[in-house]
Amino acid sequence: MTRNADRTEIHSWLDTTSGIVLMLLGVQFLTGILLAFYYVPSTYHAYATVEFIEKTVSSGAWIRSLHHYGSQWLSLFLFLHVIRLFLNEAYVHSNTHWIASVVLLGLVMAGGGTGYSLPWDARAFFSTRIAEGLVGGLPFAGRLGRLWLLGGSEISTLTLSRFFAMHALVIPGLIVGVIVWRRLTFMNSQRNAIAAGLMFVALALWCLKFHAPLGPTTAQMGAEYAPRPGAQFLWLYQSLKYVPGGLASIVGLVLPGIALLLLVFLGRLRGARLIGGVVLGGGALLIIVMTTAAYVSA
Ligand code: HEM
Repeated sequence: MTRNADRTEIHSWLDTTSGIVLMLLGVQFLTGILLAFYYVPSTYHAYATVEFIEKTVSSGAWIRSLHHYGSQWLSLFLFLHVIRLFLNEAYVHSNTHWIASVVLLGLVMAGGGTGYSLPWDARAFFSTRIAEGLVGGLPFAGRLGRLWLLGGSEISTLTLSRFFAMHALVIPGLIVGVIVWRRLTFMNSQRNAIAAGLMFVALALWCLKFHAPLGPTTAQMGAEYAPRPGAQFLWLYQSLKYVPGGLASIVGLVLPGIALLLLVFLGRLRGARLIGGVVLGGGALLIIVMTTAAYVSA
């Protein structure tokens, strides 16, 4: 009896990923809006405005760090949330909650992908180049997709304002839409609220100690500077080192897209448990191995 009660207690605490996800989404929205008061999406001004946020705006460096590291913690906890839902077979019992959580994971990754281009340091420039290469290499739609993404044939201020519009308007709008559609009642238990509160304190302290990086501009960059993406994309950055250039779009966009689609429609598939287990288990293994390899080889 007591052992059962203990097990239920542990289970309830493991179930608090939803509260943490909602808190981290709130942090992204709030800090994003604060950053947007100063940020100017133009290749001439973006770097200077982010430097201004870092050096002059009161608590600007901390707010930017909350946004930077918050996006990484959010990706991690949303992935853990999806794994927990999968283990609870939510795709059978609560399919809309399941679909909403998988779609949110895709949107949050897209938020990170567009966000890393915004500070317009050397790292941002290379991350935009990689996004351009991945989209451009897509079969059939690649040429048009690249033109659309860049807002022309070359990276320019139009590219940056396009990324900013997707980052600060389109993607957050879709995230709010998903939350409203599912009426995600994340904070439905006291434990959820406590876990979210503790996690916020941990993130706030982490950001006091570790500042979001702002690298050199491409003009200031020395030959030794090696730009690396944020933590949630290290697995991709490392994986792309092992695949021939012609397959980069397949590995970087097509396969993750298929994996997300399989998860979204998991409730309708025969052998759902096996398919979900392979996609999530294989994905987690790839992420852990490649991220570790990226840190070790740094
Ligand atoms: C889930 C939602 C979001 C995610 C995952 C996300 C992620 C990111 C990331 C990774 C960066 C780059 C940070 C860096 O290293 O410099 C960034 C920058 C930025 N984001 Fe967001 N963001 C989100 C929502 C928002 C919202 C709602 C807004 C505004 C309405 C916003 C405004 C900005 C601005 C202005 C920057 C440029 C400033 C900077 O780079 O420090 N973000 N975002």
